[in-house]
Amino acid sequence: IPGPTNLTLLPKIGSIQSKPLDFLLWLYQTYGPVSRFQAFNTPVIHLADPEAVKHVLQENHRNYSKDTIQYHSLAIITGNGLLTNDGTGWLRQRRLAQPAFARGRLSHLDQIVIPSTQSLLTRWRQLPEAHLIDVDAEMMRLTLEIVGKALFSIDLSKDAPHLTEATLTTLDYIVYRVKTLTLIPTYLPLPRNRAFRKALKTLEEAVSQIIQQRRKDKVLGEDLLGMFLRARDEESGEGMSDRQIRDEVMTMLIAGHETVASALTWTWYLLSTHPEIENRLFEEVHTVLKGNPPSTKDLENLPYTAQVFTEALRLYPPAWLITRKAMGEDEILGYSIPPGAVIVISPYVIHRLKEHWENPEAFIPERFARDPEGTSHRFTFIPFGAGPRLCIGNQFAHIEARLILAGMTQKLRFTPPPKAPVVDALVTLRPRNGLHMSVVHRSSN
Ligand code: HEM
Repeated sequence: IPGPTNLTLLPKIGSIQSKPLDFLLWLYQTYGPVSRFQAFNTPVIHLADPEAVKHVLQENHRNYSKDTIQYHSLAIITGNGLLTNDGTGWLRQRRLAQPAFARGRLSHLDQIVIPSTQSLLTRWRQLPEAHLIDVDAEMMRLTLEIVGKALFSIDLSKDAPHLTEATLTTLDYIVYRVKTLTLIPTYLPLPRNRAFRKALKTLEEAVSQIIQQRRKDKVLGEDLLGMFLRARDEESGEGMSDRQIRDEVMTMLIAGHETVASALTWTWYLLSTHPEIENRLFEEVHTVLKGNPPSTKDLENLPYTAQVFTEALRLYPPAWLITRKAMGEDEILGYSIPPGAVIVISPYVIHRLKEHWENPEAFIPERFARDPEGTSHRFTFIPFGAGPRLCIGNQFAHIEARLILAGMTQKLRFTPPPKAPVVDALVTLRPRNGLHMSVVHRSSN
């Protein structure tokens, strides 16, 4: 497999950590769609080819586990939840959790998303003119509020602000671990570790308490937690243990908010710098909604809104890195893959391949006109992964983000930031030091 020698890699080592996207693009441009480098004793194989992606994520997925630093770091919070679980345990959980994400259930998502969006709009309207808003931080809080309500019908921002803070603290810690590639055990009494463990304990205790309360009251609830509590295995009739439910709840809390927030933040940035696209989006939502907040049903009549969101996911896929470990030997595009090799697939790189995308660097929502969610671009468009481990929340994310996008665009637009934000590839893609923009409210409606 082509790739840099340890000596060629030496001057690049810093950039693996500080600019991983540039590093992966460099690997692809210099060594082609399958390349290899050595990280300590482990061979790392970068795949930038749709057939290779299909092979690992779908055709031979059983040979590839989530036994990687990326998922071990996340598992500190999510335990044995769906995102980090592997093998038969994963399949059982996936079957039990799937009904909670059925289309019919997601159609009620507007009842959560719209009030949260409306209260944010009201708050922003009271700000002085030209006041700079950190859109990145605001989207994080908005999506956390939404996922909290969807999970356990609690408004984390109002009823449990300490849980909001605890969630953000735990996530910051994971970002720090991923960024510094640290393997320091969390139990060492360092200040950062202590703060993290305290926050995680607060969260876990709160979630466990909610689960026990529901079991005690025999009121399971209609939210995601309610669905997890009543899920039963078709064959054995068994449900999830409290521990498993807790891990799934923590997983949804973590996987279900920063990703959507990142996608929205980049969408707002792209719209602010492409006024002609922003105008067309406004025309669509204004014509269809006539000043009213959107409902989930309206989304069918807002195809351009979907195209804009999908195209933003292409340019800035929040989950920019997917990793796997090869358990047995394998062959990919004629190259032999040794057992133990770490496979790295980057949606960011795949979405910018010149062989598969025309003018890949440009923001052109119309490229998804015939397929507003991009599902037909399988393996060249993988913001939600692919194969059996495709994101369970992909429809949830689409509905939530498009409702927010339509609802907010109808009422306001953002002025572009003076400088293009630097993209930080952390757990998701985030603008370095936030995205500070001012709001222009639309007065006509
Ligand atoms: C898995 C991306 C929103 C829950 C994944 C994977 C990706 C992804 C790429 C596959 C990872 C892999 O194969 O290694 C995204 C993006 C989102 C988003 C870009 C938003 C724009 C959500 C939401 C939820 C969620 C809203 C839950 C409410 C999960 C879970 C998994 C997952 C539980 C693991 C599924 C499994 O392995 O069975 N996501 N996600 N995600 N996502 Fe999402």
